[in-house]
Amino acid sequence: MKITMIGTGYVGLVSGACFADVGNTVLCLDVDSRKIDMLNAGEIPIHEPGLDTLVARNAAAGRLLFTTDYNRAVAHADIIFLAVGTPPDEDGSADLRHILAAARSIGERMEKQLVVVDKSTVPVGTADSVRDTIAAELKKRGKNVPFAVVSNPEFLKEGAAIEDFMRPDRIVVGSDDAHATKMMRQLYAPFGRNHEKLIEMDVRSAELTKYAANAMLATRISFMNELANLAEVLGADIESVRMGIGSDPRIGPHFLYAGMGYGGSCFPKDVKALLKTSRDHKQSLKLLEAIENVNEAQKNILFGKISRHFGGDAALRGKTVALWGLSFKPNTDDMREAPSLVLISQLLAAGCKVRAYDPVASNEARRQLIGSLGEEAFARDVTLCDSAWDAVEDADALALVTEWKEFRSPDFERLAGALRGRAIFDGRNLYDPALVMEAGLTYHGIGRPGHN
Ligand code: UGA
Repeated sequence: MKITMIGTGYVGLVSGACFADVGNTVLCLDVDSRKIDMLNAGEIPIHEPGLDTLVARNAAAGRLLFTTDYNRAVAHADIIFLAVGTPPDEDGSADLRHILAAARSIGERMEKQLVVVDKSTVPVGTADSVRDTIAAELKKRGKNVPFAVVSNPEFLKEGAAIEDFMRPDRIVVGSDDAHATKMMRQLYAPFGRNHEKLIEMDVRSAELTKYAANAMLATRISFMNELANLAEVLGADIESVRMGIGSDPRIGPHFLYAGMGYGGSCFPKDVKALLKTSRDHKQSLKLLEAIENVNEAQKNILFGKISRHFGGDAALRGKTVALWGLSFKPNTDDMREAPSLVLISQLLAAGCKVRAYDPVASNEARRQLIGSLGEEAFARDVTLCDSAWDAVEDADALALVTEWKEFRSPDFERLAGALRGRAIFDGRNLYDPALVMEAGLTYHGIGRPGHN
């Protein structure tokens, strides 16, 4: 099939490359010519495992093309995917400017029957707005070209996006048009070969499904974080509790890990947008509001522990804290809403210096931190290091912030020798407290006994 992908961000680029890999011809459009130049030169603007080889392979085969030219993009396609950003507005609602601009650009140019697919995460009702926008443009041109607008939300996890796309749990297609549904079935046939993965529903249910999935996952995380804080005062271990409940198939083992609060570009944004939608419709989602509040509070948790360990905020002045990990989760350089940013700003406000190491997110972190702290404070108070051991050099304590694989099994004896304050703050419950304490270090996890 001939596919046009509008938007070469995370979702658009991964989806476009995967569709090309199974034999479709995919033309990716972006209005950012810098991005398109990079892609045409074989460079990938984001860090996602396996994406560089996938893009290179399909570009070399002539199945994956890049352009900034809307005329070419609309003329190319049988199906056009909208995978542009929907950043949150100040009030938390998703900003639909880019989606509707893309819809206008399609309506201004389309000459033959098209299926337009919303892949971006958009509030319920957006497909109707996209349809109205395209129809209005066609009317202006006096054209009567048939088209359908379909909702096909994505469920990709950063760091595992290609695997998620190639072997999906489910493919949700919201459509009110039989021809469009048939096209979507055909398009997705290679991705659900052994099992029926495609779930058909009406457009609005598909739009809501996306928010419901992320809100449910966020709920599990906030629930476990809240329980972890209780476990801590009760002398229980949230890790044991996690295993104890996760083995119940009705609960399941995933997304039950207590930590420093969820971050990233999706959960925080989608929870806010769903709350806004509910307010707009005079409904209140009390549970979801609590989930968001618990998450905000959880981002402060590690700083509180560090402060208490050293005897209060005043005692932190002049201390150096090493951070292992900066990205909001492993296998990505994404720093959006990363708990590390909150921790760093709290440490600096208390007069600490920070030495941080992340396997891939340093550049992105530098950009964000300079933006929030200013060049001067960044240069004075934050050192981005080239290795995990470099970061702990001369530090008083270590905060484990992102559970990258390379941090899993450090030499604790060596850490005990390196850290002046001999303390580890494990924001991801990555370590066995007994092992850490055996090495003569103090251990602070999330919701589990430790110390020493
Ligand atoms: C999330 C969803 O998992 C995807 O299904 C969805 O497609 C995507 O959002 C999206 O809407 O685009 P992602 O944001 O990449 O994917 O990352 P997750 O792996 O879900 O992690 C989100 C956050 O939750 C991270 O900060 C992670 O550290 C945290 N988390 C996750 C926990 O604190 N505990 C857990 O048990 C799991």
